[in-house]
Amino acid sequence: MSEWRPDSWRSMPIVQVPSYPDEKELKVVEEELSSYPPLVFAGEARNLKAQLADVAEGRAFLLQGGDCAESFAEFHPNNIRDTFRVLLQMAVVLTFAASCPVVKVGRLAGQFAKPRSSDTETKDGVELPSYRGDIINGIGFDADARVPDPRRMLRAYSQAAATLNLLRAFAQGGYANLLSVHKWNLDFVTQSGAGERYRELADRIGEALSFMEACGINPADVRQLQGTDFYTSHEALLLGYEQALTRVDSTSGDWYDTSAHMLWVGDRTRQTDGAHLEFLKGVANPIASKVGPTTDPDDLIRLIDILNPANEPGRLTLITRFGADKVESYLPAILRKVQEEGRHVVWSCDPMHGNTLSATGGLKTRPFERILQEVKRVFAVHKAEGTYAGGIHLELTGQNVTECTGGAAAITEDGLSSRYHTHCDPRLNANQAIELAFLIAEALKEEREALGTTVAA
Ligand code: PEP
Ligand code: CO
Repeated sequence: MSEWRPDSWRSMPIVQVPSYPDEKELKVVEEELSSYPPLVFAGEARNLKAQLADVAEGRAFLLQGGDCAESFAEFHPNNIRDTFRVLLQMAVVLTFAASCPVVKVGRLAGQFAKPRSSDTETKDGVELPSYRGDIINGIGFDADARVPDPRRMLRAYSQAAATLNLLRAFAQGGYANLLSVHKWNLDFVTQSGAGERYRELADRIGEALSFMEACGINPADVRQLQGTDFYTSHEALLLGYEQALTRVDSTSGDWYDTSAHMLWVGDRTRQTDGAHLEFLKGVANPIASKVGPTTDPDDLIRLIDILNPANEPGRLTLITRFGADKVESYLPAILRKVQEEGRHVVWSCDPMHGNTLSATGGLKTRPFERILQEVKRVFAVHKAEGTYAGGIHLELTGQNVTECTGGAAAITEDGLSSRYHTHCDPRLNANQAIELAFLIAEALKEEREALGTTVAA
């Protein structure tokens, strides 16, 4: 086998690639990008890998979420702040319920490229190339906008850099103080229609914080209460962009993709002989693969062999996404196979991508109830198989959008169009996301009690 290089993927079969009309310009842009500073530091990616090793071993839980697709149009500090805030609010609820650390990873600061089920889109008899995410072409339905433009990569890089800069400031500059996050949750409980249902849990968190305060443990003195670790991730789809940001880390001598701390391969690009796995196998970041209903268990072992040959806990996360009604038919065989083969992975659940429907008005939506059902069924199957459901992967936003139906505010199919802003798939809004965290909290608590990992109260 030939030696891995950041560009060795170029000789492998590849799917989901844009065809750029101007190859020369593409090369110029990729060269320019490869001279830009890395967005993340390899040491941070190693820290995340160590935290994910704790998840693999049942000592922590992974919360990963953000937009389906970031866009240039919605690039605004308030959007970044609000997504970050929702993830922190969810994390506090989950940390308390499970009595274990929650590893927080945003789908943010680089989540721009989208795989599509069809290369073209037809409207009123006009056929155009599909929209592939703002890093590639424009969402507007006109021929010019849909031409892939390499310069979009430079804009995506600068947006990712500014986003990451703000996230770092929020995470460590005082905004993520645990007492503030708890206060936001109390506001949610008071304001949201069904929030009262969650008051008991919120009150117990408040009591725990008061007790800590009485013992002299407060944010002024304890660094862990003032801020948080927060990591970034996106789908490694546009490999020219990923390659340009792949650098040798001078500390370890290993290659890291410095576009994000964690990268994943999507359900449409995880072919074991394909370019996307070839690229990811050579970077030392923690990585993930989506696992959908078409996954053959033997093929999954081949994927694991490629991506994690050393069987290193924390290196590989498998994100299952079947659809609520398919969990029982697909997940058990996959869990058994991976367990039989003794592979260490983080098991995370994406309850979004298998539960997308077309609403009556034609808009894509996801019913809150089905999202919750997939999570609950995944937890139940892991419990039955003796494996650890270690994380959730969500598409969400901190904005008050109407994209998924249901939840306490009972968004209906008719109400979807009022604030439907997504550039790709429907996202949970802030209230739906926090509500989901409260509902998952109970399942997580039970799971950990069954594993004997929580200290009895
Ligand atoms: C996604 O996470 O946005 C996505 C496209 O998912 P999947 O690869 O699981 O379809
Ligand atoms: Co999506």
